[in-house]
Amino acid sequence: MKWSKGFSKTVLLALMLIIVGAGMFFYQRSYCEAEQPARYEPMQLRQVITTDSGTSRTVMWQTEKAESGSWLEYRLRVDAEQAPDSAVQKIAAQATDFQTDAGRIYQQSVTVTGLEPGKTYEYRVGSGKEFSKWETFKTDVGGAFTALIFGDSQSLDYNEWRKTAAYAYSHDPAATFFINMGDLVDNGEQYSQWRSWFRGAASLLPQIPVAPISGNHENYSLQWKPYNGELYLNLFDLPDNGPEGLKGQAYSYDYGNVHFAVVDTQLEELAQWQPDLIERQVKWLEQDLAASTKKWKVVLVHRNLFRYQDGRPNSLGLALMPVIDRNDVDVVFSAHNHTYGRSAPFKNGSVAAQGAIYISSGRSGDKTWAGSRAKPQEVAFDGVLEQPNYLKLTADNNKLTVTSLRQNGGLIDTVTLTK
Ligand SMILES: [Fe+2]
Repeated sequence: MKWSKGFSKTVLLALMLIIVGAGMFFYQRSYCEAEQPARYEPMQLRQVITTDSGTSRTVMWQTEKAESGSWLEYRLRVDAEQAPDSAVQKIAAQATDFQTDAGRIYQQSVTVTGLEPGKTYEYRVGSGKEFSKWETFKTDVGGAFTALIFGDSQSLDYNEWRKTAAYAYSHDPAATFFINMGDLVDNGEQYSQWRSWFRGAASLLPQIPVAPISGNHENYSLQWKPYNGELYLNLFDLPDNGPEGLKGQAYSYDYGNVHFAVVDTQLEELAQWQPDLIERQVKWLEQDLAASTKKWKVVLVHRNLFRYQDGRPNSLGLALMPVIDRNDVDVVFSAHNHTYGRSAPFKNGSVAAQGAIYISSGRSGDKTWAGSRAKPQEVAFDGVLEQPNYLKLTADNNKLTVTSLRQNGGLIDTVTLTK
């Protein structure tokens, strides 16, 4: 068939239109993907620890008003070899709301499961068609890692907390999660303090998960009376693998080759709600530690386990230390007294050749205790009066190192355990 001149022109024009149209479509698409601004602004965006950080991660955030269509999208980090957005997964968020002294709080929570260990993921959150900017999280590779540990962050204005947290993370950007040892805030029922705490940790929370521990100040009401700690428990969707009915108060998790077990030490504050708190936790801790096959075992408590007067085990210590001894726990971290101290190995109620070492973490906020003194079993002590401090926990297969650093990075103490 011979094409007429007119017909050829029409075909050519149609082809050109198709090419220009396709070009515009792909240009617009790539422009949209690359340039469209994130318009969703989640408040207090945070990662929260799960039992297995190699395969799962919890992400939470607050919203201005009730939102039923919120979601989280995640994908393996886009790099040169990987096709963009080919494997984006989307999960609906769980919306909750609760009353506080600052009004009703609207919150979203998602737990991502089925992740690959040792990978970097990108995630963003949103509602409807609005979305936030991409953030990243890394899954536990199962080997060496560094975690940051912060003692009491309770403060007047949380500026020191912000400085301590930001300094620590900027100097150890490879840190994979952080622990807050309790007394995160001064008054656990006052929402404005929680806003300040979140603001102080804003450089960490979207990047690495927090593993918090409840302290006595989480259990004080606005009238400074015992309070059941509901607000703390609402703000962190923590593992539910502790004793029944104590979700978020007692729980355990693994990171690398280390098993961490958290025990709630607020026996007095919680007596009217949980009169058998210590008995239930002792039973659970025994089973939890015995069941772990991890090389290193760490117990985390807010109140320390020794009497201030003479350094002998207090009632908490008498209840927990036999379990700690029987299960060959390596390190017990505490907080509450706002000073740093490290004991010699301690077993069966006294210093021993082998046994757990007890480390009082210090303070990351602005509250000090000048009256605190070293206990007889402590081989290192610092009042951390001039500036706050933090701890760095570095673990690999054969070594566990704990280093205490001042807010400005100055060395206070370091200890390495080998096995
Ligand atoms: Fe405390």
